[in-house]
Amino acid sequence: MHQSRWLITGAAGRIGVALRRHLADRGIALRSVDLATPQAVSEDDEVMTVDLRDLDAMTRSAEGCDGIVHLGGLSDEADFHDLAEVNIVGSYHVLEAARRAGIRRVVFASSNRVTGMYPADTMVDPSMPVRPDGFYGVAKIAGEALCRLYADKFQLLTVTVRIGSYEERPQTQRDLRTWLSPGDALRAFDAAMIADQPGAVFYAVSANTERWWSLNAGKQLGYHPEDDAQDWASFPAESYPPAQPQAGPYAAADFSTTRMNR
Ligand code: NAI
Repeated sequence: MHQSRWLITGAAGRIGVALRRHLADRGIALRSVDLATPQAVSEDDEVMTVDLRDLDAMTRSAEGCDGIVHLGGLSDEADFHDLAEVNIVGSYHVLEAARRAGIRRVVFASSNRVTGMYPADTMVDPSMPVRPDGFYGVAKIAGEALCRLYADKFQLLTVTVRIGSYEERPQTQRDLRTWLSPGDALRAFDAAMIADQPGAVFYAVSANTERWWSLNAGKQLGYHPEDDAQDWASFPAESYPPAQPQAGPYAAADFSTTRMNR
């Protein structure tokens, strides 16, 4: 019987390593790609050094896989040109590699930062218009649009996961709203990898009492978070200024301008 093999981009990153260990424990064969050479997590983990900017290398690395989880790229605000090359063109390469290699499923790691400019008194749902808090958010929106296009035009089963704040424990007042616990992150990817709604988008956030993002879309796809930041924080909750952008410090103009390098 053919064993299913998943290609993981960004395999050497924080979420990549945790997800790969979890998938390996479930007996899933892996092909792990990153610009930095990943360490194999099991005997059936094929490790490759691949640059997302190289379409041919991406396509070769996808051969023989059954699905892709696309985690790779710049994971915070950066110069727009770099974000365009790595995150926008790179996401196009991942989807195009899937199409060329005949891979039907792609899970895309997007971010809460696609809606970071909504004020703190607003409950945001994936059906609401995007309001990015920086160029990183803009690049993630382009990745989401590519996923939608590849679902509608090429019948790929793409699922977008808008990740909250992935941390071992909540560390800031903002984390009380945005925390994604390590366990809930794995639950979110487990759901996304078997979801059957092409083009679906959901927020991967823990079941935080104070959360800003609706869990409804995720629940429909089988994502049922179990952790609440309030139970894990070592500091008391303070009220959040209602008009402040959800992005907090990321919303400031100089958070973007100080990262411009061209
Ligand atoms: P990370 O920064 O730890 O890992 C990203 C990986 O991508 C790194 O191993 C890096 O070497 C690789 N990479 C960078 N440029 C590349 C290129 N040109 N070609 C190939 N690989 C390249 O990020 P983390 O925390 O594991 O996040 C995974 C994904 O989830 C990212 O796409 C990030 O934007 C997204 N995300 C993460 C959040 C978090 O709280 N950690 C929150 C929201 C979204």
